[in-house]
Amino acid sequence: MSRLIFEKSRPASNKMNIPPAEVGQVDMTETIGEYLRQGELPLPDVNEVETVRHFTALSKRAYGVDDGLYPLGSCTMKYNPKIDEWAARLPGLAGLHPYQPLETVQGALQIMYETSQWLCEITGMDEFSLQPAAGAHGELTGVMMIKAYHTQRGDTGRTTMLVPDSAHGTNPATAHVVGYKVEEVKSDARGLVDLEDLKSKLGPHVAGLMLTNPNTLGLFEEDILEMSQLVHDSGGLLYYDGANLNAIVGVARPGDMGFDVVHVNLHKTFGTPHGGGGPGSGPVGVKKHLAPYLPVPRVEKNADQYVFNYDYPQSIGKVKEFYGNFGVVVKAYTYMRALGGAGLKEASQHAVLNANYVKTNLQGTYHIPFDRLCKHEFIVTAKEQMDSSKVSTLDIAKSLLDYGYHPPTIYFPLIVREAMMIEPPESESRERLDDFIAAMQDIADQAVKNPDLVKNAPHYTVVRRLDEVKAARNPVVRWEEAIDV
Ligand SMILES: Cc1ncc(COP(=O)(O)O)c(C=O)c1O
Repeated sequence: MSRLIFEKSRPASNKMNIPPAEVGQVDMTETIGEYLRQGELPLPDVNEVETVRHFTALSKRAYGVDDGLYPLGSCTMKYNPKIDEWAARLPGLAGLHPYQPLETVQGALQIMYETSQWLCEITGMDEFSLQPAAGAHGELTGVMMIKAYHTQRGDTGRTTMLVPDSAHGTNPATAHVVGYKVEEVKSDARGLVDLEDLKSKLGPHVAGLMLTNPNTLGLFEEDILEMSQLVHDSGGLLYYDGANLNAIVGVARPGDMGFDVVHVNLHKTFGTPHGGGGPGSGPVGVKKHLAPYLPVPRVEKNADQYVFNYDYPQSIGKVKEFYGNFGVVVKAYTYMRALGGAGLKEASQHAVLNANYVKTNLQGTYHIPFDRLCKHEFIVTAKEQMDSSKVSTLDIAKSLLDYGYHPPTIYFPLIVREAMMIEPPESESRERLDDFIAAMQDIADQAVKNPDLVKNAPHYTVVRRLDEVKAARNPVVRWEEAIDV
C-alpha cells in the first residue's frame, strides 16, 4: 500500500464536478495580499472509492481500546461504552449552539449541573467547573486558583510548589507554567512520599503540594492525612491529580483526605475516549475556600431554572471558550447514570482486582520492585532480563506489538529502572487478562532462549522500530518535506 494519498493521485481520476460558486467573485487581494493563492491547489486527484479505501486501510493500522487490551499505565484506557456515544450524538444535544438563549438549552445545563454535583459527591469537593479540556489543563486551572488564593490573602512569599519524584511530568510542568519554583519530594523504600523529606521542605515559601493518590506506582499514599495536616499547618494547599481516581471511586474521596483542589480526567475514570489527544475533559473541583476563584461562568440552579453565573469578581476567568468540551461531559454523564453509584464503585473494585491478578501472575517472571497490594496499576521491570541477556523494557514493549497488544507505559515513573507500568482496567475479562499474562510470560521465555528475537521486535508490524527521538524532534508533517527525505 502506498504511504500517502498523494502517491495515488492520477490526473483527472476524480470525476466529481463541483458546481461553480454562484456568489459574485470578491477581490481579496487587498485583505489577503501576498498570501492569496496564485495557482492551483495541489490536492491529490483520487476518486472516491480509492479515497475511502485509503483511509479505511489507515484506520486499520491504529490500535485502540475497541481492538483489545490497552494496558497503558496511568492513562486508564478503559472501554468506552457505545451508549455514551449515542447520547452525545442525540440531535438535541449535538446540534446545540453555544449562543442559544438559555431557556432553549435547559436540558444541556441540567446535564452540566448534575455532572458537577455527581463529581462533588464522588470526590468530596464542594464545587466543580467543567471547563478544562484535559487533565493537564485542569492542573493549570487548579494551580492558578492556588496562586490566586495566596495572592488575594497577601501571602505573596509562597513561590515554591512541592511535587513528589514519582509524579507525572505534567505536575512540575504546570507548576512551572504558573510561575512556581518546583521542588521535588523523595519517595521512600515503600514507594510512598518520604514524610521526613516532606517535613524538611515545608515552610512559608511553599504554596502547596501536588499529589496523585494512588500514586504513579499504583500504591495508596497511606500517610495522606498526616501529609495533609503538615502541608496545611505550614500554610500550603493540597492539589489532587485525579488521573488515578479510577482506583478509588466509591471507596475513598480526595476531599476527605484533605485535598483543597482536584482535577478529574473524564477520559480516564468516566469512560470517555481519549481521542488521540483530544477532546478530553478535566473538570476541576474545589473546597469552599477556593470556590470564589473557579472559572466563570458557573452553572447554577435558581428555583427550577438553570443559569450561567458570571458574577464572581475573584474568579481566575475563563480557561476555555464557552463551557468546556460539552460532548465529553454528556458521555461521562451517561456513563455515570448507566452505572449508578454502586456500579461506579464496582468498576473501581474490579480495576484493583484486575491489576492485582495480573501482578500476582507475573511474579517470578518479572521483577516487581514494590511487591505489595497495589491499586489499579503496578510496576514490573526488565531488570532481570537486562542483567542476564540485555533485553530491555523497550524490547519487551516492542515485542508485545507482535502479540497484538499496545504496550504498557514504559520508563515511567522515572524513579524505577527499566519500569513497565501496567494498568489492566476493569473492563477486561479474566480470559483477556490470561492472554496478556501468557504473552508477557512468552516474551520473558524468549528473552532467555532467543534474546535476539526480542531485541529485534517487532517483526510483524507495518513498520519496525522507529526513530522516536527524531520523530519528536524533527516531525515531517508535510507531503513536500516527506518527498525530500
Ligand atoms: C498521573 C497523571 N497526571 C496527569 C495526567 C495528564 O492528563 P491529560 O493527559 O488528560 O492532560 C496524566 C495523563 O496521562 C497522568 O497519568
